[in-house]
Amino acid sequence: MTFENLTWEIRDGIAIITINRPDKLNALNQRTVRELDEAVGRAGADDAVKAVIITGSGPKAFVAGADINELSEQTPIAGKDYSIYGQGVLSRIESLGKVVIAAINGFALGGGCELALACHIRIASGNARLGLPEVTLGIIPGFGGTQRLARLIGKGKALELILSGEMVDAAEAARIGLVNRVVEAGRALDEAEALARTIASRGPVAVKMAIEAVNEGIEMPAEEGFFLEATLFGLVVTTEDFKEGTRAFVEKRKARFRGK
Ligand code: COA
Repeated sequence: MTFENLTWEIRDGIAIITINRPDKLNALNQRTVRELDEAVGRAGADDAVKAVIITGSGPKAFVAGADINELSEQTPIAGKDYSIYGQGVLSRIESLGKVVIAAINGFALGGGCELALACHIRIASGNARLGLPEVTLGIIPGFGGTQRLARLIGKGKALELILSGEMVDAAEAARIGLVNRVVEAGRALDEAEALARTIASRGPVAVKMAIEAVNEGIEMPAEEGFFLEATLFGLVVTTEDFKEGTRAFVEKRKARFRGK
């Protein structure tokens, strides 16, 4: 598949996927969602990729939601199928096995906010504005937003955002835990790259297992979550990375992890 609506590059082992429809504020039409799925899949399958960043093209928007022109043509059965497909794309991002960071360089609305929610970490530019404005169009979020937002920021705040359809600025998004941190306008990608490099330098199997422990564990009763954690802990102590990490500490040098 050739990409029309996104660009993809690998810098220092970090795949940078940029949604690239700036004249439409990077709105997600169906083709873009398919391209995103493909690009993320490639990043997941490529051993040279240690971390992934998703961002938007131009200074104004991360992603301003689903493409409303396309959305306006949606029919019930196709709408349900598309929602299930989009949920799957975002779930594949969430369980990619490598860290995925959203560099939110502007508006992250509707499907754009849902995309950011599926990423593991969100870094927002000072000019970013986030929200789920679907109710202003007479619909509800359909790419997992009702579920992920409530889990991330709590039911009360999530309902306030979803029911009002109002946007929050970057500072408020950080205050309510919707984004991890706010950086100077225009610096979201740089800061995301710096963090991605840090995480990419850690044990890859450990990073993968830690994501799995949190992702899966949060859906379980605590006792089952603890059991999952212990099981994964038992697994990571068998890895070469663990031997290398502990040896490097003793030898006072930087660990050279191989992801094995
Ligand atoms: N779908 C399709 N096109 C979109 C879009 C979307 N979600 N968001 C923005 N665009 C297009 C606009 O139609 C406009 O295109 P045009 O120049 O051909 O008319 C272009 O992107 C620039 O947007 P514009 O509205 O002129 O910018 P603005 O700075 O005045 O407003 C927003 C920015 C984000 C507040 C506004 O574009 C908006 O509300 N977008 C829709 C957000 C939304 O409801 N998303 C959820 C969908 S479920």
